[in-house]
Amino acid sequence: MQTPSAAAPLASRAARDPESRASGFDAGKSPVIHVQGLGKTYQTARGALNLFEDLNLEVAAGEMVAIVGQSGAGKSTLLHILGALDTPSEGTVYCASTNVAKLSAREAAAFRNREIGYVWQFHYLLPEFTALENVAMPLLARNMKKVEALQTAQKWLSEVGLEDRGDHRPGELSGGEQQRVALARALVCGPRLLLADEPTGDLDNSTAGRVFDLIERLHRSHGLTSILVTHNMDLAERCRRVLRLGNGRLTEITDAGSKPLQAGNLG
Ligand SMILES: Nc1ncnc2c1ncn2[C@@H]1O[C@H](COP(=O)(O)OP(=O)(O)O)[C@@H](O)[C@H]1O
Ligand SMILES: [Mg+2]
Repeated sequence: MQTPSAAAPLASRAARDPESRASGFDAGKSPVIHVQGLGKTYQTARGALNLFEDLNLEVAAGEMVAIVGQSGAGKSTLLHILGALDTPSEGTVYCASTNVAKLSAREAAAFRNREIGYVWQFHYLLPEFTALENVAMPLLARNMKKVEALQTAQKWLSEVGLEDRGDHRPGELSGGEQQRVALARALVCGPRLLLADEPTGDLDNSTAGRVFDLIERLHRSHGLTSILVTHNMDLAERCRRVLRLGNGRLTEITDAGSKPLQAGNLG
């Protein structure tokens, strides 16, 4: 269970970590994401599967970054490592001032609850609970009183334009509405970072556009740092910075309006 008092030692421990000095990481004036020499190898029945080697990435506070790349390139794995759902095989990964590779399972859960908002292609809302209860769930997991958690969840449902859908179960919502609820649940604990893995991948084009509009608005109004994996070139183009993951490398396709994006260099 996450409590504010449990959060402080984690952050200060990361700042004291000797590896942070070795990698030039300074928790006081650092990017929100600082990845150096990241390697990831899965051990499979057929032998080692080497996904990345020496991958580097910095993301500054407030950036909205798109990551594109072919299926199987490792985009989801990279997001999982950034968000402490998976561990690197090599390298240092600082995310929101925390050396995520060094967290125990319990610390990682607290870190995710506090710092990371996750959205996936599929909403993963719990079908037997209402939209309001689903949004309140992460707050209840950190021991907030139920009445307060439900009030905060209601505020977040309003933020995503669903104030009148709180008593609907996920099966009684459209695909776009389900993703809006998932976004409210992702952000209800006030994370600094939004990690979204194909968040509009299961939606038709116009619904995807509206959900992306909402992500952009929430990103700005809550001062988030956001990383979005997407196959949708039109949506990727709306991020100021686009990276392509392929052959174990991250390539900067464009940043801050430099070279225009072309269809050919996205996949
Ligand atoms: N837990 C795992 N064990 C072994 N291989 C995995 C595991 N997770 C993912 N992979 C493999 O790693 C590769 C990258 O997967 P993934 O990160 O999901 O790619 P993407 O999101 O870019 O499609 C795939 O070939 C996948 O089969
Ligand atoms: Mg994926």
